[in-house]
Amino acid sequence: MNKLRIGIAGLGTVAQGVLHLIATNGDLMAKRTGVQLSIQRVASRTTKPEVDLLGGVFSNNVHDLVADPDVDVILELIGGEGLAKELIESALAAGKRVVTANKAVIAAHGDQLLASGNVPLRFEAAVAGAIPIIQSLNQGLAANRIESIYGIINGTCNYMLTVMEEEGLAFDQVLSQAQALGYAEADPAFDIEGVDAAHKLTILAALGFATSYDFSALYVEGITQIAAEDIQYAQELGFKIKHLGIARNTDAGLETRVHPALVPTSELLASVNGVMNAVQVVSDAAGETLFSGPGAGGAATASAVLADVLTFAATNFSEREPSPPESQGTATQIQRVAMDAIPSACYLRIPTLDQPGVFAQVASALSAHSISIEAVIQKEPSSADTSVSIVILTDMVVESAVNAALKDLAELAAVVGNITRIRVAPTH
Ligand SMILES: NC(=O)c1ccc[n+]([C@@H]2O[C@H](COP(=O)([O-])OP(=O)(O)OC[C@H]3O[C@@H](n4cnc5c(N)ncnc54)[C@H](OP(=O)(O)O)[C@@H]3O)[C@@H](O)[C@H]2O)c1
Repeated sequence: MNKLRIGIAGLGTVAQGVLHLIATNGDLMAKRTGVQLSIQRVASRTTKPEVDLLGGVFSNNVHDLVADPDVDVILELIGGEGLAKELIESALAAGKRVVTANKAVIAAHGDQLLASGNVPLRFEAAVAGAIPIIQSLNQGLAANRIESIYGIINGTCNYMLTVMEEEGLAFDQVLSQAQALGYAEADPAFDIEGVDAAHKLTILAALGFATSYDFSALYVEGITQIAAEDIQYAQELGFKIKHLGIARNTDAGLETRVHPALVPTSELLASVNGVMNAVQVVSDAAGETLFSGPGAGGAATASAVLADVLTFAATNFSEREPSPPESQGTATQIQRVAMDAIPSACYLRIPTLDQPGVFAQVASALSAHSISIEAVIQKEPSSADTSVSIVILTDMVVESAVNAALKDLAELAAVVGNITRIRVAPTH
């Protein structure tokens, strides 16, 4: 039987997941593809004698993988942008196929890395863990014009919003719980400030709309301003709060934005809870398709890494390998819509003094910017409260008008704290 010889860079969660999956399902993979996967080398910072390297030779220098003529495929599983980029570049230059799970490096350098040669670079695991969304965009939906992509693509945010909803806990309490359970990093900024989701949306937008990998073109907002009471008010209005990556083709151009959003409770995306990820793709022929599954974890991510490796296995010994669609140089620049120009309905929670006439002042400040009110929630304060929240759902209004109204509202003497604004997710 033919062999595909693998070199693994890194020996952390995903690399160990890959080794374990080859150990348990390698025979099945060989039956399916006619190719035996073998581990030629593993290179990482620290040796881990307890991990079975399946016969692979260990070294501390990831460049040893490139230098070894017996390595056919390199798996970049170290993360980060510096060494990972260097390794991918040198591997491709040496004619080695590369698989990476690294969304940061693809979001920042995708155009350059994919243009750098005839050798394929694959990255299914970089977006939404186990979900085969990249293959679906590149192949399953290849005959379609994509209209929109909506993703719950950060498990930490989704877990936190779910627990805040189910247990009514404050943001900080849920964050500590998520850290204790290993669902949030010790430094959670990347996840809760939206950067991780933005890396993934950069990739989805580039593939779905055949445009460049342009992280800087995205609007990015995390979930740090969401309070448990926002989740309760949203429920009263018929919504759940989800952290979404949205890429959407409109008459004005391509919207690419990551922020918390109100999703109608009746939508399938609203019922994706906990650490699960989901990506909804709307396209002209296939219509609405929803992909959901675990977005992280050693085994789930290894499943996606090995899906890419097996694509190489399937083509490795044929005479000619087709280039994957993502490296065919079809990227075009699509006009991106500036966040300021995007219209949304908005949820506003405005903390005010409990005094007569305050609602009239708020309504007048909104009206001055032509913002109409769709719904209002105003509850009696408890006897201990000196302030009360006015919660407003606006009609559709362009972002720049909401920003101007928020500035005016903040200057009112009766407004006594930060105003929370959450956009309603657009209908497709
Ligand atoms: N974990 C997930 O669920 C998941 C899901 C999707 C995608 N990913 C992506 O997969 C990649 C790997 O993630 P992971 O969770 O497996 O990370 P990890 O557990 O931190 O493992 C990273 C590995 O790379 C090694 N490493 C780091 N810097 C190195 C260097 N300069 N030279 C040699 N080795 C180095 C580390 O060595 P030490 O052992 O000494 O620390 C560690 O073994 C990342 O790009 C991540 O974004 C992860």
